[in-house]
Amino acid sequence: VWESFKPKLGRPNLRTKSLLKPQASSFKVAVLGAAGGVGQPLALLIKMSPLVSAVHLYDIANVKGIAADLNHCNTPARVLDFTGESELASSLEGVDVVVIPAGIPQKPGMTCDDLFNVNANIVKSLMEAVADNAPDAFIHIISNPVNSTVPVAAEVLKQKGVYDPKKLFGVTTLDVVRASTFVAQKKNLKLIDVSVPVIGGHDGITILPLLSKTRPSVTFTDREVEELTVRLQNAGTELVEGKVGAGSATLSMAYAAARFVESSLRALDGDGDVYECSFVQSDLTELPFFASRVKLSRKGVEAVIPSDLQGLTDYETKALEALKPELKASIEKGVSFVHKQT
Ligand code: NAD
Ligand code: LMR
Repeated sequence: VWESFKPKLGRPNLRTKSLLKPQASSFKVAVLGAAGGVGQPLALLIKMSPLVSAVHLYDIANVKGIAADLNHCNTPARVLDFTGESELASSLEGVDVVVIPAGIPQKPGMTCDDLFNVNANIVKSLMEAVADNAPDAFIHIISNPVNSTVPVAAEVLKQKGVYDPKKLFGVTTLDVVRASTFVAQKKNLKLIDVSVPVIGGHDGITILPLLSKTRPSVTFTDREVEELTVRLQNAGTELVEGKVGAGSATLSMAYAAARFVESSLRALDGDGDVYECSFVQSDLTELPFFASRVKLSRKGVEAVIPSDLQGLTDYETKALEALKPELKASIEKGVSFVHKQT
């Protein structure tokens, strides 16, 4: 199962050090928003990881039964439950990775940005606790709109004097998972081999798949590029409409988030060959945050990979320029939200 999480965005898929050696289950992962549609399957997948010794479930809704349910699975990680604000600090004690899927999801007719008012407050309050109780952890933000909630998280960490830009990640793995699936389907390729970097952000036109950088190398007609790009940008909406008011992506999101957790744990475990796309503080463009491929290490982002932005097609170059104003505005919205409240 875990082999399928190995990203195909880095070098060829060699069996790596951490997969060859006997694996100690030693890392602790907290999921904040663990009772939700994303949180529950994500907790299950994290509990299955051989690298995890404990999964801490936190939610304002009761997670006791969910933890008991998961603890009946005969995988080594122990699941601990923390319900309500009074238990938030304890849920963060000693954790290596904090994953935040707390917040409302889209309903039909909404955009990611429509979630801002509710979710920015949730992320801000959770981040205050993370800053106080787990300042050295890797932080994975799933709550939408990621283009704004990641800057919210950064500003809170700055105010608390514990901001390490290398350890704050907006989770855009679902876009990468979707892009490789859609390309493999369109081109009749073996799915496991396909990787497509996705850059920019995580909302509408800010999601930009670099189809020209697909591995293995594939040629696309102009029409295929347009169709695949637009399908990826609307994939969230496709699901929201399909679920008719019952939420947005949950199972595929949990799968994608679990892959990003596993990649982070492999990096923390000393694997020197871990690459993922993520929305991080970046100097690749003039924007302060930008999603691109990054190399992960024990310290977090070891490097953003600039080569993906070189040699873009005309279509990709235009799409990149077109997304910048929207992404810039979303980032600024997140930053000013925190400043207005202080
Ligand atoms: P959900 O409504 O099913 O679950 C959200 C959970 O958050 C609930 O259990 C709720 O009790 C909890 N919650 C609310 N406020 C909280 C707080 N202050 N502290 C702790 N927990 C709190 O929603 P979902 O489908 O699980 O989606 C969660 C979030 O993930 C949404 O914002 C959604 O837009 C986002 N999402 C992001 C991506 C992505 O690619 N980044 C993909 C899918 C969903
Ligand atoms: C998705 O990409 O499916 C989600 O980000 C949709 C959402 O806003 O919940």
